[in-house]
Amino acid sequence: MTTLPMAVPAPGLPARVRIHEVGARDGLQNEKTTVPTDVKAEFVRRLADAGLTTIEATSFVHPKWVPQLADAEQLFPLVSDLDVALPVLVPNERGLDRALALGARGVAVFASATESFAKANLNRTVDEALAMFEPVVARARAEDVRVRGYLSMCFGDPWEGAVPVEQVVRVCRALLDMGCHELSLGDTIGVATPGHVRALLTALNEQGVPTDALGVHFHDTYGQALANTLAALQHGVTTVDASAGGLGGCPYAKSATGNLATEDLVWMLRGLGIDTGVDLGRLVATSEWMASHLGRPSPSRTVRALAASTQPHKEQ
Ligand code: HMG
Ligand code: MG
Repeated sequence: MTTLPMAVPAPGLPARVRIHEVGARDGLQNEKTTVPTDVKAEFVRRLADAGLTTIEATSFVHPKWVPQLADAEQLFPLVSDLDVALPVLVPNERGLDRALALGARGVAVFASATESFAKANLNRTVDEALAMFEPVVARARAEDVRVRGYLSMCFGDPWEGAVPVEQVVRVCRALLDMGCHELSLGDTIGVATPGHVRALLTALNEQGVPTDALGVHFHDTYGQALANTLAALQHGVTTVDASAGGLGGCPYAKSATGNLATEDLVWMLRGLGIDTGVDLGRLVATSEWMASHLGRPSPSRTVRALAASTQPHKEQ
């Protein structure tokens, strides 16, 4: 039995959180070595078996831009029978065509709040990228495909420094207005702190963006991802992105390190009595298995603690 924290609910928090698992995409896109397709497929299957219900599977981007995910066509059919949501990243209509041809039912476009990252990641200005996404979102919606809109660099940018809240709000509004069902606020380089998270969420609400359309996507560069998540939960956010084992980063932002580890998130939520449907023991086993393929230990504190535990596992 897996060691689990004692559940002690705190006031003002949601009863349930939906974890949007990004390890197979955000995690593996950043690995130096390309993981074999069958290993990726087993990773996705194990994540589903651990109870995750939204698993971002891969990206239909230009294979030269992200060679680690160049096998999207081969991978997707190996997992598409799973009874979970398997959204995929598509930057443009070419990506959408590829995803729709394989029967994808959820896609994500990915915008930037800053010009520097829009250029580095998409070879476009912020507004050119939005123009590129418009037909993608319209066509996806016409096919009844769910569309997520990521927004990177919401809290800071490695080239431009601090990012004004109004700049973030403008792009969020544009993504929602073009028809995205939900947004994911990305702290791509992990510089956010809880007050900043609250301020951005409040500013978005003031501009008519409802909290239930928002998810949060924290990278853990400065160890703030869980604190930031708690701030978002206190604000009413119920969708949290996380990456099994803390895999991740972004190949086009060198200061982006691993995402919030799903295990660390599940540990905190479990301790707060918040339901996620995830079996922590199975998830840790999956991340240890993936770490053995990658040849290095998981940076997740929870994975390390549970893997190191030599005591018979018990619930406290
Ligand atoms: P570009 O070079 O400007 O491409 O790249 P283009 O539009 O000029 O097209 C050039 C050629 O690429 C054409 O072929 C296209 O057909 C082809 P040609 O006519 O010359 O033979 N092409 C494609 N081929 C396959 N699939 C496609 C595709 N699109 C064009 N989808 C482009 C523009 C957007 C394609 C490129 O910049 C790109 O693929 N970028 C992706 C970068 C990426 O995936 N970054 C990581 C994900 S974002 C992230 O991690 C952040 C996030 O986690 C949140 C956070 O943490 O902040 C989401
Ligand atoms: Mg990311």
